[in-house]
Amino acid sequence: MKATVEEICRLFAFGAGCIEAEEMKGLVALRGWGMVEQALDYLKRIGFSFKAERGDLLLLSTGPDITPEAIHARTHTREFGRGIHHFSEVDSTNSQAKALAEEACAEGTLVVSETQTKGRGRMDRKWFSPPGKGLWFSIILRPTIDPSETASLTLLTAVSLAESIAGTCEVTPLISWPNDLLLSGRKFAGILAEAAITDKVCKYVIMGVGVNVNIAEGSFPAELAQSSTSLLIETGKTQDRALLLGAFLSIFEEHYLNYIASLTSLTELLADKETLRGLWVEVVLPPKEGETVVGKVLGYGQDGSLHLQDENGRVHHFTVGSARLLPS
Ligand code: BTN
Repeated sequence: MKATVEEICRLFAFGAGCIEAEEMKGLVALRGWGMVEQALDYLKRIGFSFKAERGDLLLLSTGPDITPEAIHARTHTREFGRGIHHFSEVDSTNSQAKALAEEACAEGTLVVSETQTKGRGRMDRKWFSPPGKGLWFSIILRPTIDPSETASLTLLTAVSLAESIAGTCEVTPLISWPNDLLLSGRKFAGILAEAAITDKVCKYVIMGVGVNVNIAEGSFPAELAQSSTSLLIETGKTQDRALLLGAFLSIFEEHYLNYIASLTSLTELLADKETLRGLWVEVVLPPKEGETVVGKVLGYGQDGSLHLQDENGRVHHFTVGSARLLPS
């Protein structure tokens, strides 16, 4: 039935919400009426509604917009997002993905949830994940790289996310090293990479991504209100989460495979992106968050490091920490 459900979603997507009578006949001839009926019943159960008109099938509402079927219909990949674990609520998609990775789940498996009760950010921060308003997901990666290179995977993810957002939402985010995306100087997306390394070998990396998609102004908790934004706030439009996720998976798989095969240079990918280059930042170093270095960003290393020149002219290369943009 899964293939029939996917086919129906694809036909609706291509027909802008309408499956014409001829297309429906073709589908019935291919799959059989029983299977098509079962697939339509399933779609109704998960919140879709339709109306038949002169043999055409009109889509009235799609219910949750990030069903596995909707994601598949918008994803052009070989592996990424082919296996999807979709939840209405989880503690953290990173924790779920980690459990799956330990059970030998395939590379590219996607864990996505409508909300998270214990969404995690970097440096032990909580991640605000309200139901249905964002993209909260994790991908299992099994990269054949040196563990020291995992930092570059975070930047590769940030580049892929920035490209998919530019393509689907028509805004250009600033990549704030190493894992944030900003619009109007405020954060709307973050990345949490968690690697399992044994005997200096990278077993897997869980790449967790959080994007504030359709969070309305005034809906952030007080402590985030000043520093956070969303795609809805910045574009003034409700954004299609499945379209954005599909675009991200497609772009990320391509960059990732090229990177693993040494066909992509991270510094080249960053060259034409909006980044911190030339801007003044404060780099906060873990674990003591009090330790900081202020300077102007010179650029990035192939290993994902940030190159910065401090006020005394000294050049620093950071592989850990996080940069905060200073007011110009
Ligand atoms: C950060 O900016 O500090 C990173 C935020 C990462 C949040 C995402 S939401 C999906 C995934 N699951 C988590 O618990 N965290 C990441």
